Amino acid sequence: MSHRVVATIDRRALAHNLEIARQYAPLSKVLAVIKADAYGHGLLACAEALRAADVLGVTDVEEAERLRRHGIHQDILVMQGILDKSDVRRIAELGLQVVIHRTEDLALLEAELGRMRLPHRLTFWLKLDTGMGRLGIQPAEVERVHLALRRQKWTEEVILMTHLANAGTPESALNSTQVLNFARSCQALADFTPQTSIAASAALLALDVHGDYIRPGLMLYGSSPFAWQDAERRRDQFGLHNVMTLQARLISIHQHQSGDNIGYNSQFICPQPMCVGIVSIGYADGYPGHTPNGCPVLVGDQRTHTVGRVSMDMLAIDLTNCDEAKVGDWVTLWGERLPIDEIAAHTGVISYQLSSGLSQRVPRIYR
Ligand SMILES: Cc1ncc(COP(=O)(O)O)c(C=O)c1O
Repeated sequence: MSHRVVATIDRRALAHNLEIARQYAPLSKVLAVIKADAYGHGLLACAEALRAADVLGVTDVEEAERLRRHGIHQDILVMQGILDKSDVRRIAELGLQVVIHRTEDLALLEAELGRMRLPHRLTFWLKLDTGMGRLGIQPAEVERVHLALRRQKWTEEVILMTHLANAGTPESALNSTQVLNFARSCQALADFTPQTSIAASAALLALDVHGDYIRPGLMLYGSSPFAWQDAERRRDQFGLHNVMTLQARLISIHQHQSGDNIGYNSQFICPQPMCVGIVSIGYADGYPGHTPNGCPVLVGDQRTHTVGRVSMDMLAIDLTNCDEAKVGDWVTLWGERLPIDEIAAHTGVISYQLSSGLSQRVPRIYR
């Protein structure tokens, strides 16, 4: 079957990027973050490609169930925690690890697990809010909650974790404040040295704080967590390989005169005679609808750019200097020689959102 748009996923590049993550923290275990359908790359295929990871991190029980249903027996962490008692039951039945981020979770666990016969004891990741202001118990509560969890007969291990708000800006003072708050909380546990986890991609690549488990996500998909403007911290500098190539077909080519309108709302008026191509991808596929004129694309090896407003399933590109271009050709929206991070800089949409926002109607092809 021929496709009009396709995202090709390079599984070897995923495995390579996992190795790069390990090199940054050789003594740590790796939790590979594959939540949100592996940032849009496909949950199952990415879990397979990342089987060298120690743990796989998913959003919720539903994603974990999909993995188990397809025969993934690896350790899996449910990163958003438990919502209700049915989550607790499924976590116990499927032998999942789970983040505990509210003090009220304790009562829920006690009520449900107390009356179950568990095949295995469970591992909990106790999340502390050290300054992110999102999920986590307050440092003042850590000793009590940690002890309450640890002394349960159904507990195997309690790992302490925190998430940094500004690791993508390594010079931010909040990074060291959070790391210090976390270290103090760990020290507060009398007679006990917990396993810890701090770093996601940005902290791993730019801050020397890891913990016993690192939690890379974005870098596994060949994207840098730092601003494109920071030329020293682009993916190539870290040795990361491109994972996703997004391509769509050229479906029409027209010559235009100076002053001609291109697309909705007159976002682009031809300043001179131009050749304009229409590419079969639009915002319904996940390409950002507000993309400005001038966003780079590749036609074959040649770089050109978008002109005019992105429509639902089409966008226009300047083909004036692309003499060889013909209807049916593939146009690359991002990939090896056009990093997704560069498109993020042009569109103002972070690369996390570009890949995870790719719609389900875009077929993923794995090689
Ligand atoms: C708690 C936690 N750890 C790790 C990650 C992975 O982060 P990154 O994709 O920046 O490596 C995320 C992503 O949102 C997260 O929420």
